Amino acid sequence: MNNIKNIGIMTSGGDSPGMNAAVRAIVRTAIYHNLKPFGIMRGYQGMIEGDIKEMHTTDVSNIIQRGGTILKTARSKEFMTESGMQKAYDQLKKHSIDGLILIGGDGTIRGAVEFFNRFNIPAIALPGTIDNDLLGTDFTIGFDTAANTAIWAIDKIRDTAEAHDRLFLIEVMGRDAGYIALYSGISCGAEHIFIPENNESIEEMFQLITDDRNRKKLSNIIVVAEGDEFGGAEQLSKLIKERIPQIDTRVTILGHIQRGGSPTSQDRILASRLGYAAVEALLNGHTQEMVGIVNNEIMYTPFTNCVKQLKSMPDDLLKMIKVLAK
Ligand code: F6P
Repeated sequence: MNNIKNIGIMTSGGDSPGMNAAVRAIVRTAIYHNLKPFGIMRGYQGMIEGDIKEMHTTDVSNIIQRGGTILKTARSKEFMTESGMQKAYDQLKKHSIDGLILIGGDGTIRGAVEFFNRFNIPAIALPGTIDNDLLGTDFTIGFDTAANTAIWAIDKIRDTAEAHDRLFLIEVMGRDAGYIALYSGISCGAEHIFIPENNESIEEMFQLITDDRNRKKLSNIIVVAEGDEFGGAEQLSKLIKERIPQIDTRVTILGHIQRGGSPTSQDRILASRLGYAAVEALLNGHTQEMVGIVNNEIMYTPFTNCVKQLKSMPDDLLKMIKVLAK
């Protein structure tokens, strides 16, 4: 058992829908266990600056349904320096914080590895990113909402694509991860997807489009993750226009719309379960681990393992999308 009294809670990196639900669960579980929860504003940057305040149960009322994060977030360059980490540690000491719960993606966990090796403060992370790219959990907080936002948008684009017999390249988020592209692509019946994890053959795509036109299928939806090897939807559109100029091609970049909005039921439940489990994990002596859910069970993965390698893409889904597109 850890003898922790004051817990610092922080959201960091890109925000994701459901972070607020996680903060609420952590605050209320901490209070239930007679711990004092402290909100650290703007991620590691707020930790360095001592932007820290005690949280009460009413501070997290009416936030479970809200996107964004009431604790705000940032990507801090200063925290990556030795002096930045020292300042952050000094602030934690000043506020008597003796345990931390971090909510964020791989950048947040990478930042934590060095900090916690050096200063050895018990810490647990929750996977909070729309990218779904962390090992140790089937889904990250915010991914389901982001994928559904993309689906909502792509369905509308399909209508106009069909009306005009056009090809649309739709760029979704994911600098290093193709999960949003894969899930939204399958859900919207995309003809093809491009993702960073896979080297897709552009020739195969040209062939598919040509075959479609020969069989009088005149609209196409191609979903592209922003980090694909061709450099995104605009670049791919140029290549298509050069090769098959007669096709009327348009590009839509969905952008940050995918990061906002009210979390889905799946994200609210995931965030609540993980927030609750994180406090219990800290109290039970876990440290430097990310809490996730694998096969519907809570699982703890050491920080270093979560970010060691890319989460693999489900092979069957990658194969299936091609079969179903024909
Ligand atoms: O990591 C989440 C994410 O939304 C990525 O999908 C995207 O590449 C990146 O953040 C965008 O970051 P920013 O909002 O800082 O431009």
